[in-house]
Amino acid sequence: MSEPSLTSSASFQALETHAIEAEDWQMGSLFAADPQRFERMSLEAAGLFLDYSKNRVDGRTLELLVGLARERGVEQRRDAMFAGEKINNTENRAVLHTALRAPRDAKLVVDGQDVIADVHAVLDRIKAFTNAVRGGEWLGHTGKPITDVVNIGIGGSDLGPKMACLALRPFAHPRLAMHFVSNVDGHDIDAALEKLAPETTLFIVASKTFTTAETMMNAQTARRWFVERAPESALPRHFVAVSTNTEAVKAFGIDPANMFPFWDWVGGRYSVWSAIGLPVALCVGFGYFSDFLAGAHAMDEHFRSAPLEENMPVLLGLIGFWNRQFLGCPSVTIAPYHQDLARFPAYLQQLEMESNGKRVTRDGEPVDTPTCPAIWGEPGTNGQHAYFQMLHQGTDVTPIDFIAALSPSHELHHHHTALLANCFAQSEAFMKGKTPDEVRRDLQGLPLAEIERLVPHKTFPGNRPSNTILMEYLNPASLGALIALYEHKTFVQGVLWGVNSFDQWGVELGKVLAKKIEAELAGEPQPALHDSSTNGLIARARAAI
Ligand code: F6P
Repeated sequence: MSEPSLTSSASFQALETHAIEAEDWQMGSLFAADPQRFERMSLEAAGLFLDYSKNRVDGRTLELLVGLARERGVEQRRDAMFAGEKINNTENRAVLHTALRAPRDAKLVVDGQDVIADVHAVLDRIKAFTNAVRGGEWLGHTGKPITDVVNIGIGGSDLGPKMACLALRPFAHPRLAMHFVSNVDGHDIDAALEKLAPETTLFIVASKTFTTAETMMNAQTARRWFVERAPESALPRHFVAVSTNTEAVKAFGIDPANMFPFWDWVGGRYSVWSAIGLPVALCVGFGYFSDFLAGAHAMDEHFRSAPLEENMPVLLGLIGFWNRQFLGCPSVTIAPYHQDLARFPAYLQQLEMESNGKRVTRDGEPVDTPTCPAIWGEPGTNGQHAYFQMLHQGTDVTPIDFIAALSPSHELHHHHTALLANCFAQSEAFMKGKTPDEVRRDLQGLPLAEIERLVPHKTFPGNRPSNTILMEYLNPASLGALIALYEHKTFVQGVLWGVNSFDQWGVELGKVLAKKIEAELAGEPQPALHDSSTNGLIARARAAI
């Protein structure tokens, strides 16, 4: 039997009525009416602080949203996920990234398998390997320590490790330079290899399936580059794999003794906690990698046990749902006011959009509301000088998540004061805006006609929603908690929309068509079976190649 649709639920209908009343709300008036609004609409968990008071919601909105979460079964589905039930129903898989960061003494048996024991057995291997490479005991084939690590992977096998290595830059090993190659575009691997010496380079071929076309092509190119410059017998010291597919790893020529496994119940975009995090453990060391896992686990414990009304991922998910559904916001901007989080928006693009960019429910019925908004962003203050104009005065309302650390990991304190001032000023400006009368006051002294000509241009509508997430420092534990916060937010929204957040069939069609066109570009007779545009593009490329 199909689950009831979202719009047929009593709580959704109550929210629809409430949204009509809320249409004209001004956040400024909501703040004026409730001096306790900030205290009421902020909370701390797992070392993170969330201020969600600058949203167009009141106590009743939150009550109704929490009611919707209950009616849609967020608590039951959350518990089913943590328990290892096969909630990924189109692939018939459990979803257990939370088990990857559970402590050694946790208990979880799924299909007769002790999941926690398996996880910690691999973590022990990661510890031994990363200690050996970092400590200079794992040597290249000429007896020199490794200086460069190249992770070859794409999607979840790239975005998480790349984002985390950058975010944890102050914790990085001084001898190890981390490189990431993902794109099938040869310019990517070409640029990486150009700087490297084979005798001191370690390649990690990271692919859950070990069939992904881009990764396999890049791995073959790296292998060829290596054996042209070093004896083939040296490969085992320079190539390791991270995968769930032992057979394919063997077929590629990597010794399974140098393969770090994970499991089908780890989704690609949820895999940075698994052996896919090997570059992170190499970069910052196993001790900090453990702190990273512990930070995520602390957020898991909060998500699992806090009442929905005081549950950070639940509130973040519900507010995002409100903005998408009732304010009609087509996208969300992630604004990390921390340069080391530069890749965090890109990471969230896969996490949220590959998870919830769906148009049918778990039962295959069309969804009856909009689902995942587009996610995008750049670090502040750079974004301010690029697209914040549109956020302030454009025709779409785009909610913003501001993310900042209260203390920097450098000594340039005046920079940090300026950074935080900008972060807080932006959220204030988005909320308050600027009225025509305020503009007129600013322009006093100019001729009246000139003032009136400028007023519409210099007026800000304000009333634009944002969240602010603060941490003391950006460190392994707070980064772990931050990622887990967004993972669970994504989960909550998926449950509200009734979609399966853990499959990604939408990436298949393009892959299949690319294979066919690749053969045609490589010289196979071109059957004119494509549309005229695709035929024309292929013909132009064939003429040029
Ligand atoms: O793009 C689809 C996808 O399957 C992602 O979900 C995944 O993270 C990525 O490709 C890489 O997959 P793999 O780790 O199997 O190479």
